[in-house]
Amino acid sequence: MSHPQGIPLLVPQLPDRLALQPFLDRIDLSRHYSNFGPLVQELEQRLATDYSTHASLPLEVVTVSSATAGLELALSSLELPPGSRVLVPALTFVASLTAILRAGHLPVICDIDPDNWLLTPDIADDCMRESDCQAVIAVATFGQAQDTRAWSAWQQRHGVRVIIDAAAAYGSQWVEAVDIPVVFSMHATKSLAAGEGGFVVTGQPGQRRMIKELSNFGINLSPDTDHPVGHLSYAGTNAKLSEYHAAVGLASLNSWQTQADLRHAVFLQYRETLQQACGDALIWQQGPAPAAPTTFSVRLGSSGRRSKLEQLCAVSRISTRRWYQPLLHQHAAKVGPIVHLPTPTAEAVSADLIGLPFFPMLTRGQMAEVSQHVAMAVTA
Ligand SMILES: Cc1ncc(COP(=O)(O)O)c(C=O)c1O
Repeated sequence: MSHPQGIPLLVPQLPDRLALQPFLDRIDLSRHYSNFGPLVQELEQRLATDYSTHASLPLEVVTVSSATAGLELALSSLELPPGSRVLVPALTFVASLTAILRAGHLPVICDIDPDNWLLTPDIADDCMRESDCQAVIAVATFGQAQDTRAWSAWQQRHGVRVIIDAAAAYGSQWVEAVDIPVVFSMHATKSLAAGEGGFVVTGQPGQRRMIKELSNFGINLSPDTDHPVGHLSYAGTNAKLSEYHAAVGLASLNSWQTQADLRHAVFLQYRETLQQACGDALIWQQGPAPAAPTTFSVRLGSSGRRSKLEQLCAVSRISTRRWYQPLLHQHAAKVGPIVHLPTPTAEAVSADLIGLPFFPMLTRGQMAEVSQHVAMAVTA
C-alpha cells in the first residue's frame, strides 16, 4: 500500500526556533552579525576541542560558508603552482571537482576501491605511476571515513599534499593525523546542519590562518607578519560564516548526539529490512556504518534492475536519486580540462548504484515499503 504523499528522498531536520532562541538573543545583544563574531568563535572552539580529543596533537578549526569553499581554500592554502595536478576520485559530488578547477588546478580523475568505494592510498600509489600529481583530494564517500594515518604516511612517502573531503562524514571522520586537513559541510542536509556552512580541521596553525584570511578577501589579519594588517596578502574571496549560521550550527551541535543515534539506528534497521527482503542480491559499501548517515545508497547488481526500481518507485511516489552521477569525468566536457585515468570500478559501481529515501524519522512501514519495491526490482 503506497502512501498518498509518497516517500521523500531526504527530510532535513534543523533545530527549531526554541533551540535557536538563546543564540539569537546573544546576537541581538552583541550586534555582531558576521566577521568572526563570538558565536563563530565558540563553534570553532567546541569543534576543535572535540577533534583534538581524537588526535595525538591539538587541532584547530576554521569555519567557512560551505564545504565547497572550504575545499577550494584548503587547496589554495597549499600554494601549489597554477595548473598543478590534483588527484580526485570519479565517484564524488561535483564540488570536489569544481574546487580544484576554481583553485586553478588540473583535476586528475581516478578510480575507487571496489569494496569501500573510496579513493585509497593504494589506488593513489598506482595513479602516481601514471600521472605525477601534486595534491590529492580523497573523499569520505557517503560518510565512510578515510584513514588519515594511512594518508599521512602516503603524503610523507610521496611528498604530495592530501586533503580529505569529508563533507558528509561529520561524526564518522576523525582527524587522527594532524598533517591532513579535513573539510566538513554544515549544509541543511547534513547531520550537523547550519543551513549552509562548512569548516576545515587542521593541525597546522599557519594553514588555519591562511584559510581564514582567504575567506576574508585575502586581507592580512595577523600583526606578527612583516605585511601590514588590513592589506591584501592573497586574492581571496568572501567565504565567512555569519553569526546566524553559527547560531544554527551551535544549536545543532547541542542536539547532535540524539540525532546521530537515531540516524545510525534507522540506517541499521533499514539495511536489515532490505537484506531480509532481498537476500544476497544487494551489494553494500564495505566498512563500519557511519555514525550519523545522511544518505542511503546500495548497488542493485545490474543497471536493468536499477531502471526497473526507478520505474516502480516513480509509480508509488518513492523518491530515489543516482547519487554522485554522472561521474566526475562525465561532467568534464563543459568544465574541463581534466585528466581521466581508467575508472572501471567507478563505472561499474555507478551503473547500478541507487540512493533510497533516508531521514531520521523514516518509519518501519516506509522501510518495508521501499524494501518491497527493491525486492520486486531485483527478483524481476
Ligand atoms: C563529497 C562532497 N563534497 C562537497 C560537498 C559540498 O558541500 P557544501 O554543500 O557544504 O558546499 C558535498 C555535498 O553534499 C559532498 O557530498
